[in-house]
Amino acid sequence: MDAVWLSPFYPSPQADAGYDVADYRGVDPLFGTLADLDRLVAETRARGLRFIVDLVPNHTSSAHPWFTTALAARPGSPERQRYIFRDGRGPAGTEPPNDWQSVFGGPAWTRVTEPDGSAGQWYLHLFDRGQPDLNWDLPEVRAEFRDILRFWLDRGVDGFRVDVAHGLVKQADLADFHPPVEPVTGEGIEGPRPPMWDQDGVHEIYQDWRRVLDGYPGERILVAEAWVQPAERLAAYVRPDEMHQAFNFEYLEAAWTAPIQYAVITRSLAANEAVGAPTTWVLSNHDVLRHASRLGLPVGTPRPRGIGVDDPQPDAVVGLRRARAATLLMLSLPGSAYLYQGEELGLPEHTTLPDEARQDPTWERSEHAQRGRDGCRVPIPWEADAPSYGFGPGDASWLPQPPLWAEYAPDRQRGVAGSTYELYRTSLRLRRELRLGSGTVYWLTSPDDVLSFRNGELRVLTNFGADPAELPAGAELVHASGPLDADGRVPTDVTVWLRVAEETGHEETGRGEDH
Ligand code: NOJ
Repeated sequence: MDAVWLSPFYPSPQADAGYDVADYRGVDPLFGTLADLDRLVAETRARGLRFIVDLVPNHTSSAHPWFTTALAARPGSPERQRYIFRDGRGPAGTEPPNDWQSVFGGPAWTRVTEPDGSAGQWYLHLFDRGQPDLNWDLPEVRAEFRDILRFWLDRGVDGFRVDVAHGLVKQADLADFHPPVEPVTGEGIEGPRPPMWDQDGVHEIYQDWRRVLDGYPGERILVAEAWVQPAERLAAYVRPDEMHQAFNFEYLEAAWTAPIQYAVITRSLAANEAVGAPTTWVLSNHDVLRHASRLGLPVGTPRPRGIGVDDPQPDAVVGLRRARAATLLMLSLPGSAYLYQGEELGLPEHTTLPDEARQDPTWERSEHAQRGRDGCRVPIPWEADAPSYGFGPGDASWLPQPPLWAEYAPDRQRGVAGSTYELYRTSLRLRRELRLGSGTVYWLTSPDDVLSFRNGELRVLTNFGADPAELPAGAELVHASGPLDADGRVPTDVTVWLRVAEETGHEETGRGEDH
């Protein structure tokens, strides 16, 4: 590994797992102290790793002093200007100012009670009501975040993962938004850019931040969490004077078929190359179903927002086999790969978490229509035989762990040939040794259900089809996500890394546009 990214540890009511920040310059006592964090940063860096913190600029917590002060102040006051307060619609202001919906479900507006006890204005929260959106048109907000950046840069952090980077600026008129739907099926379809996402005005904020980072010694980076498509719009966030990287969620969402994986990889590489930024790859994170479970759903299933005990369950065997193949494919691509804690253990989603234990605001706000993200956030096992598998001294972990997690613990996998843990270790070591991260993809001719390309001296082959795929003549097996079959062929859902004597240039045809 090269770097560690820590999700928010700031003082917070934990209405959204710490993405509701009450103090941007501290550490929640739940996790420790600022001195603990300083030590963590120093010890991480002493091991040759970089340290990246999560910055949450779109919204504060409703417990942030700015917001409590705003509630105590009058409509129109400078204190309210820091957020997005509006009068309600209708004669008595009883309707929200517009029809925007929260990402977690329900209206994106909450009505406040004014200091005199009367029903008052509404404030915007694109997420939970405990996460009021800041008003980024206000110079004071911009100045405050420049100062927060400096606070952490001065403490020696190497960079920031920027939460909801595509949301800070809203269309000025806060116009109603009716997401376009397919008239017969009612399914969401492509349409005009929503007034709350990916507005052009966000870019000057990141250009400003880039100037702050560039004033510090060493390499300091910004990575955008921006759910923006197409890849060309996302690439705008990583132009030379803005952020350094952006998560590639189009890749995460791409279905497990050769044509779709080919298309997303080529598009991602081309879009980033156009702006001179490294492409990134990601298969799992704390907001999505773990890929060992996601890939165990029938191919083409839309990504579920959580799975509960009475929902169709993923096929664990198929899921893990595909997850291992997908990881090996990802780790052979040039650019930066982001891994999520536990995926190196082959950990599945906890899909039978008791509903009473759920913490994600999505579950309540969606009126139980969506289970939410708790299933991927359950504390991971460290030791097979320890209480809470090594999470803490007691048997209970923050979210309850499922039975049978002992088998995933690293002390059951370390040194075990073929374990997922060893697969990750070997892949990461080879990725570095073979300089795959700074290589180039040359596509090779292959059957329709197979992807094959060369990166440096390595040939990569993933078989998505039902039939086994032949190895090229003279191929030497370097590494594989699963065993070859008895005839030395690559079975379904397996990726192999090969060395092929006398690699021939004429094979590098690229695949057809329609592939
Ligand atoms: C994205 C974070 O990854 C997610 O966990 C959080 O709920 C939202 N942003 C809101 O901050």
